[in-house]
Amino acid sequence: MNRVLYAADCLDILQDPDKLPDQSVDLIYLDPPFNSNSTYNLPFKSRDRSLKPVEAFEDTWRWGFEDETKLRDLEKNPRTRALATVLRFAQEVEGVRRKRKTSMAAYVLNMALRLRAMRRVLKDSGSIYLHCDPTASHYLKLIMDGVFGASNFRNEVIWGYRTGGVSKKRWPRKHDILLVYGKTGETMHNPLQERIFYDKPFFTTAVDEQGRHYADVYIRDVWDDIKAVLNVSKERLGYPTQKPLALLERIVLASSNVGDTVLDPFCGCGTTAHAAEKLGRKWIGVDISRFSTGLIRRRMLDNFRYLNIDDVDVFGTPQSVDDARDLAQRDKFEFEKWVCGAMGANGMYKNPGEKGADGGIDGVIELPVIRRIGNKFESQDEYVIVQVKGGNVSPDAVKALAETVRRLGAVAGILVCFADQLGTVENQRSEEMWSDAYQQYPFIQGYSIAQLLAGEKPNMPPTYGYKHGGRTQAFQLK
Ligand SMILES: C[S@@+](CC[C@H](N)C(=O)[O-])C[C@H]1O[C@@H](n2cnc3c(N)ncnc32)[C@H](O)[C@@H]1O
Repeated sequence: MNRVLYAADCLDILQDPDKLPDQSVDLIYLDPPFNSNSTYNLPFKSRDRSLKPVEAFEDTWRWGFEDETKLRDLEKNPRTRALATVLRFAQEVEGVRRKRKTSMAAYVLNMALRLRAMRRVLKDSGSIYLHCDPTASHYLKLIMDGVFGASNFRNEVIWGYRTGGVSKKRWPRKHDILLVYGKTGETMHNPLQERIFYDKPFFTTAVDEQGRHYADVYIRDVWDDIKAVLNVSKERLGYPTQKPLALLERIVLASSNVGDTVLDPFCGCGTTAHAAEKLGRKWIGVDISRFSTGLIRRRMLDNFRYLNIDDVDVFGTPQSVDDARDLAQRDKFEFEKWVCGAMGANGMYKNPGEKGADGGIDGVIELPVIRRIGNKFESQDEYVIVQVKGGNVSPDAVKALAETVRRLGAVAGILVCFADQLGTVENQRSEEMWSDAYQQYPFIQGYSIAQLLAGEKPNMPPTYGYKHGGRTQAFQLK
């Protein structure tokens, strides 16, 4: 199994032996929500401040009635009694009866159930990396000891980074923690080296072509040479909590071999899949958000030109026009999220069924536009507005989109709808065009769900992903 994405709760996939057989995975990397009591938004730098980004996922956990039942089940089973003790301790510490808004116990319980299921699918020689931060790492380590065995603890890696805001009231919190466990004593590991430069020579140093003194040393468990994904980072996709590709490449290189299978059960915008593909490993990703899986497929196709749309299997999102119609009728909001993710458009804030301040805008595609200024070529950041219609498209909707595009100062608008509605868009749209340094594009265009499913692109310049695609050195598995 390779290049598979599931839009689902990872527990459902992890518990299904048809999807993930016993001992089928060599490496698991998971970067679950951290119980940070925040809601992550997809950022969008609009010129119109009234627009708010859509919530990508919520990172708050409450202790509910069903959690008590799950905990009692863990208490009854002698194999999981130790886990239940950790959870009771967490409850005791936070005083769960006070009905706190966010509950550590609920978070850790839900993680414990998923980690247990991960153990089943991991090979005896496999490793699991649990990416977390100091908010919950102390509880998670106890849970990992309970699930994988304390003797299978391999190490704790500290990833230190520098991002925007710092507190002056305490030491600024600028590190994450990777808890690394094996499943048995046979855990495989490829030691990795790095080159360190020194001012003066000493007995282990050598001299490179430029006359610098260096030593090749083994990479230790404190990683402060990998930069976080910032707003200005070239690899940024606009997905909150996106992890740097270099971090995942290091993990994949150390704990798997070419042809091995890597699983990310909380795969976000697909950094693990990207690293795995780049390094010739097989990969499987799961994310509960329909936005995420579509975005990852786009990311993979943009970065690895040898891949076709059929090479990446996505389950849990519409596969055919009929599926898409069905989703549009059942859940308009999820339908919009899916379309936006698959087009690489950041979603816009709107409550289901509500016509909010966004004036019917569903997503925004950010793209670099190359323009000729005098004798020079310059890249300028521009926006394309996406509007999704799951039902009939009225003539007014097409005109309204044009007005919105003008109001927001975007370069173009795309109206996504079912193919039978494209005629209305074609009849009502203005003939206006806009251009980059090379060619002209329609100011307003229709784009059908069938085209989206077939991997056809709207008529506009390449997005950021393409730019990166040109630079990625990828090779194909034989
Ligand atoms: C911290 S982000 C992961 C970011 C990822 N490492 C990357 O580089 O893009 C956590 C992800 O977990 C997903 N998630 C939350 N609960 C989940 C669940 N029960 N099953 C699968 N995915 C879930 C969220 O939608 C979110 O995308």
